[in-house]
Amino acid sequence: MTSPAKMQELIGIQLQTLHLQTEPATLYDPIRYMLSLGGKRIRPVLLLMGTELFDGNMHDALSAAIGIEVFHNFTLLHDDIMDNAPLRRAKPTVHRKWNSNIAILSGDAMFVKSCQLMMEVPDHALRDVVNVFQATALEVCEGQQLDMDYENETSVTIERYLKMIRLKTAVLLGCSLKVGALIANATEEDAQHIYDFGVNLGLAFQLQDDVLDVYADTEKFGKQVGGDILSNKKTYLLLTALNQSSGLLKEELLQWIHQSISSDKNVDKVQAVTRIYNSLGVREQAEKKMNQLYQEAFDHLSAIPVSSSKKEPLQKLAESLLIRDV
Ligand code: IPE
Ligand code: IPE
Ligand code: MG
Ligand code: MG
Ligand code: MG
Repeated sequence: MTSPAKMQELIGIQLQTLHLQTEPATLYDPIRYMLSLGGKRIRPVLLLMGTELFDGNMHDALSAAIGIEVFHNFTLLHDDIMDNAPLRRAKPTVHRKWNSNIAILSGDAMFVKSCQLMMEVPDHALRDVVNVFQATALEVCEGQQLDMDYENETSVTIERYLKMIRLKTAVLLGCSLKVGALIANATEEDAQHIYDFGVNLGLAFQLQDDVLDVYADTEKFGKQVGGDILSNKKTYLLLTALNQSSGLLKEELLQWIHQSISSDKNVDKVQAVTRIYNSLGVREQAEKKMNQLYQEAFDHLSAIPVSSSKKEPLQKLAESLLIRDV
């Protein structure tokens, strides 16, 4: 079994040596920039672990692992434009360092590159891998659009929120693991279990991301803290606060949501909404839901008939994700 550190190292090397053109520099430099900023590399590690769980050869899965990471980074380029985010991995976002047109096209090129890399899986798995990858890519677009639509809606339910984060975030974790499993020739049933493990883990992961968006330390998190509050993202925190507040508190919360504020009032809005969250204890409730989803993820992992020692790397990685501050 390959250690997670070794996997990270291999992924890092592959990303550095990715065959990219140099001209036009305004297309390729932002790609190199984004890929050099690091990140947790969770999805490619999950993919490689998915292969090893079912006794496959990790080297057969490396191109796909890189493909998944390039795809993820492409979604971040576009997501940062959509979310008007200034910071990513503690550095200026591509659309701020260059401009939005550049971030759009560099993102598009990364999507093409990710498709090419996914095509490099062993022939026996090619059709199934391309199918799950393309279906997932479309779902991510659907989730991202729902995320944007919900900014302007106040009647989003927790159920609709969970569906939205399943699409924008969770299915890509499921897809990563499933692609790994397919490369290792796992049975359909096992591939489904590992997919469901990834999806539930991904739901918990996005809930944690929502919590960190409010409560993290900007320097560690590497993203603007309070960004979700400023753009009225319908996160688990905000929806719970809307559901559980009443009277003056609810009025105050709705006022902040409906107010179009100038940027000099940004700090006031983040502080005021955070105070409301604190008074209602919504962070604790989000963490409770996160742990529940995490348990559901584990039920799927448990159902896979391989030894628990083989599952250990996945279990450890999953545990580390939920106590992260990045
Ligand atoms: C950020 O993903 C986007 C979400 C789905 C929350 P990550 O938190 O995996 O970002 P990096 O790749 O580690 O920077
Ligand atoms: C992003 O969700 C999901 C995708 C990029 C598809 P967020 O908008 O919460 O991710 P961050 O917080 O910017 O990383
Ligand atoms: Mg974002
Ligand atoms: Mg977003
Ligand atoms: Mg976020």
